[in-house]
Amino acid sequence: MLFALMPARAVASAPLNYLSGHGTRAYPVVALTWGVLLIAITVVVIISLLVAGAIWRRPGIVSPPPGQRLAIERPVGGIKWIWIGVGLSSAVLLGTVVWTMSVLAAVTAPAAKPALTIEVTGHQWWWQVRYLSDDPAKIFTTANEIHIPTGVPVKFRLIGGDVIHSFWVPALSGKTDLIPGQTNETWMEAQKPGIYRGQCTEYCGIEHARMGFVVVAQRPADFEAWWLRQLQSAAAPATAAAQAGLGDFNMHCGSCHAVRGTDAGGVLGPDLSHLATRRTIAAGVLPNTPRNRARWISDPQGIKPGAMMQKPELTETQLTDINAYLSTLN
Ligand code: CUA
Repeated sequence: MLFALMPARAVASAPLNYLSGHGTRAYPVVALTWGVLLIAITVVVIISLLVAGAIWRRPGIVSPPPGQRLAIERPVGGIKWIWIGVGLSSAVLLGTVVWTMSVLAAVTAPAAKPALTIEVTGHQWWWQVRYLSDDPAKIFTTANEIHIPTGVPVKFRLIGGDVIHSFWVPALSGKTDLIPGQTNETWMEAQKPGIYRGQCTEYCGIEHARMGFVVVAQRPADFEAWWLRQLQSAAAPATAAAQAGLGDFNMHCGSCHAVRGTDAGGVLGPDLSHLATRRTIAAGVLPNTPRNRARWISDPQGIKPGAMMQKPELTETQLTDINAYLSTLN
């Protein structure tokens, strides 16, 4: 019956689903989750049946005749069931402890050397993502969308940019806090391509719930292509509207946002280099479409009240031009 509830086929894009896993780090944890759940349900069923049986089979109490006392009879022979019950419960509990410990040991560190290290900084309320490299020319920053290659472990360095946040991609790996003044590490490995939803899971202020991200797991060749693309600077916009938009963007947006290869070098908000390739904006809140970008820019506080982004003073034309420019950032 219970197995019918389990997903027959793993859906890689399942949102925030921790009951099915998709990577070497998640598999043992998911097996443990279901295993302990099944054991717990079995124990509850057995205990309930025993209690029901005991109530059903209780000896009838005969009322003594008036003026007489009832002789007290102590039932004998039941003590062995106490020992059997205690022994069985202890064995099952010990088994789950050993299983839990072995899973913890198995997921602490990856079996193979991580293919790359990604530094993630939690900000109110978005994720800064830096791809690290020994070669400084190959370090780049992006936001709210993390691409990883499939089939290899990826290491994460986690930093709290302002308050404590927590990094969670349920289908791939457990939660790890991002704490100011401390660098925590975690890792994950996706077995197959897919889009995995991630979420901040430590209350970090009014927009905590709207602090999402996606992990895009790609075949190594596809990841390599994405990575090489990210290393490139933005191409000069071709259309007149986008060219005007670039000027407006630098003036109105460039002190908070950066686009590599332009004068916009702000670090307060997400790096928008290659923004048009991302699936969402505002940290997973809206699908990244031109219409949603216009909505977001013209009313950030309406969509995400309390967000650090203030509404820029733009004319209709400037907004359209900036949006045209953002569409070129692919
Ligand atoms: Cu960041 Cu909750």
